[in-house]
Amino acid sequence: MTNKGVVIFGDPVLRKKAVAIARIDDRIRALSAHMFEVMKKARGIGLAANQVSALDRLVVIDTNRGDTKGHCLTLINPEIIGASGSVKLDEGCLSFPELSADVERSERIGFTATGLDGKRFEFEAEGILARAVQHEIDHLNGVLFIDHLGTTKKMLLKKQLEELKKLSKK
Ligand code: NI
Repeated sequence: MTNKGVVIFGDPVLRKKAVAIARIDDRIRALSAHMFEVMKKARGIGLAANQVSALDRLVVIDTNRGDTKGHCLTLINPEIIGASGSVKLDEGCLSFPELSADVERSERIGFTATGLDGKRFEFEAEGILARAVQHEIDHLNGVLFIDHLGTTKKMLLKKQLEELKKLSKK
């Protein structure tokens, strides 16, 4: 596996739809371990496979922060099965360095995913975990957090986005 960091906005892989994982083999286990490493290094709370140039439906999440106990999860073929409420929060993305914006998302979600052990599980989430799972599943579908912004806000970010695009080509 290549030792690439996180792919930056402008790279076409971020706009591609990741493919369902049919078999959890050594490649998938290695990809998951690699993603945890990259995420940790970048101090992120979530990472989708697209962001390391792999088009597998795989997400890693780590919402543990300092003394705040969170969740550390590997999600294979995750799917949202229910959602309620809505909340607007400042959100960023490792593929958009130094950029953040208010994004409205469901407050609580139910989701299913398969773990590295091959077992399908169901999970109910709220707060930061609900937000991270929604953000990362978006990635697997080629959807980025800026897609949730209104036209005015997007206009305001236009210059920064162009700069990122240039950076991604380097
Ligand atoms: Ni992201």
